[in-house]
Amino acid sequence: MTRQTAARRPRPEHDPSLPGILVVDDVEANRHLLESYLLHLQVRVIQAADGRAALDAAEAEPPDLVLLDAQMPKLDGFEVCRRLKETPATRLTPVVMVTSLSAVGDRVRALQAGADDFLSKPIDRVELVARVQSLLRLKATYDRLEDAQQVILSLGLTVEAKDPYTEAHATRVATTARALAELVGVQGARLDDISFGAAIHDIGKVGIPDSILLKAGPLTQDEVAVMRRHPGIGADIVRPLRAAPGLTDIIRHHHENVDGSGYPDGLWGPEIPLAARIVAICDAFDALVSDRAYRPGRSREEALLTLRAGSGSQWDPHLVETFVGEVAGKPGQLRAG
Ligand SMILES: [Fe+2]
Repeated sequence: MTRQTAARRPRPEHDPSLPGILVVDDVEANRHLLESYLLHLQVRVIQAADGRAALDAAEAEPPDLVLLDAQMPKLDGFEVCRRLKETPATRLTPVVMVTSLSAVGDRVRALQAGADDFLSKPIDRVELVARVQSLLRLKATYDRLEDAQQVILSLGLTVEAKDPYTEAHATRVATTARALAELVGVQGARLDDISFGAAIHDIGKVGIPDSILLKAGPLTQDEVAVMRRHPGIGADIVRPLRAAPGLTDIIRHHHENVDGSGYPDGLWGPEIPLAARIVAICDAFDALVSDRAYRPGRSREEALLTLRAGSGSQWDPHLVETFVGEVAGKPGQLRAG
């Protein structure tokens, strides 16, 4: 490269074509440390020293990802996250909350505020880079969606937002489903379809009454029957979309079991579309390790044992093995249980 071309090329922090990462921390040394960890990625890092400055920066130029310190004076990270998720321009921007390792309660608060992922201090560089890369891929997928898909995605996220304990579940399932699909040879635009389908797989729950959807105790037989309508309702919602065939497969069939005992169609083994088999595993794992109103999340090891126990009956054995061996072992793909 000649000196002239080097001089003409904008510095990364000024190149608007690069994804922007907003790093928010009241401690200057922490911001610089995070920025140094991201130096080798093709990204622009924008720093903000407090919650107010973060909201101003996000309003001036919506970032592609936010790394947000939870504990800050005045406006803390939880409130900043909540406001970012309430603002249409930043609603789909992934937010990674940085919490101290000991503060388990902070994770629940972060979930309730709509955070998409967590990192514990001290930050591990490899884990940070892996999470940043996977969330930027997800954001890029969202950005490419056609307007109708944006509406559908918003609707899907709204359904999830009804229950604070499941919020951000969709984005995590989308990230892991994409990773698993890639490992079993899915390529190109099909990966985007799987990621999108995974993010809205439960969209049909919009048609389920809140009295059933949010019920804390066990459901009656009649209520279970109503709840089991959500894959069919969801498939009907997305059918008019351009990307409909792939999406309908995922949404309609994410509760089928490989032994034929699932619903709504009782499909068996390879009759179940591959994308639906992938999403079923990622959905189940994330639900197992996540906290719920009525129980804390299980450990990652317990969740993987559950997947193995259901391998061949509920889930595709090859996909379970790949998930357990490859996806679950990668930092950044899954929340630690
Ligand atoms: Fe579902």
